[in-house]
Amino acid sequence: MKFFVDTADTDAIAELNALGMVDGVTTNPSLILKSGRDILEVTKEICDMVSGPVSAEVIALDAESMIAEGRKLAEIAENIAVKVPLTWDGLKACKVLTDEGKMVNVTLCFSANQALLAAKAGATFISPFIGRLDDLNMDGLELIADIREIYDNYGFETNILAASIRSANHMSECAKIGADVATAPPGVIKAMANHVLTDKGLDQFVKDAKQAGIKIV
Ligand code: G3P
Repeated sequence: MKFFVDTADTDAIAELNALGMVDGVTTNPSLILKSGRDILEVTKEICDMVSGPVSAEVIALDAESMIAEGRKLAEIAENIAVKVPLTWDGLKACKVLTDEGKMVNVTLCFSANQALLAAKAGATFISPFIGRLDDLNMDGLELIADIREIYDNYGFETNILAASIRSANHMSECAKIGADVATAPPGVIKAMANHVLTDKGLDQFVKDAKQAGIKIV
C-alpha cells in the first residue's frame, strides 16, 4: 500500500520523506487554509520535494470552471493530480482532464456507486472518506472493501485512495482490505510506530543495560 501524506505542512512532509514514507501528498482547501500559504506557491514547493502524485483541489463547482482551474493547477508540475469533487460536474471535469492525460483524484466519495461512476469517468484515484462515515456511525472500512470488490470484478484501474484516516488502525485495516493508497495526517503515520509492549520492553532493556554496564560505542 502506498502512503500519501494528507497535509500542506512542508516541514512535516520533509520529515517523513527523509524516511522514505512519502509516496505522494494530498491537499485540500482546508489544509491550504491551515498552512496559511498561497495555494500555488505551497503546492509548487511540495511538488519539488516529492516525486509521487501531489493532489491539488479545484474550488469551482461547475465543470467548465473546474476544467480551467484543473489545467492551471496541472501547470504547476508534472506530478500534480487535479482533485475534483464527486458531483456530476466533477465527473465531467474528470473525464475531460483525464482525456488530456492529467492525473485526476475524485474526492468526497461516500458510496460504492459514486466510486463506480468515478472509475467509469476515468479517474486516476478515488478518495473514499473513512473517518467522516465513521463519524455518522457508518462503516468507512466497509466502503473501502466494497469498492475493492467492485473494481476487481471489472478490472477498473482507478486507484483506491483511502482518505479521512484518523487512526493507525485505519491504516492497517486499509492495507488488509487492499486499498492501493492511504492518505493520512503525519501524526497518524508516526503513530503507526507505537505499541505499549514496545515501550514496556524498551524500559526493561534500558534498565538491564544500565545494570550490566553495557557500552557499545
Ligand atoms: O483526505 C481527506 C481528509 O483531509 C479529510 O480528513 O479528518 O477532515 O475527515 P478529515
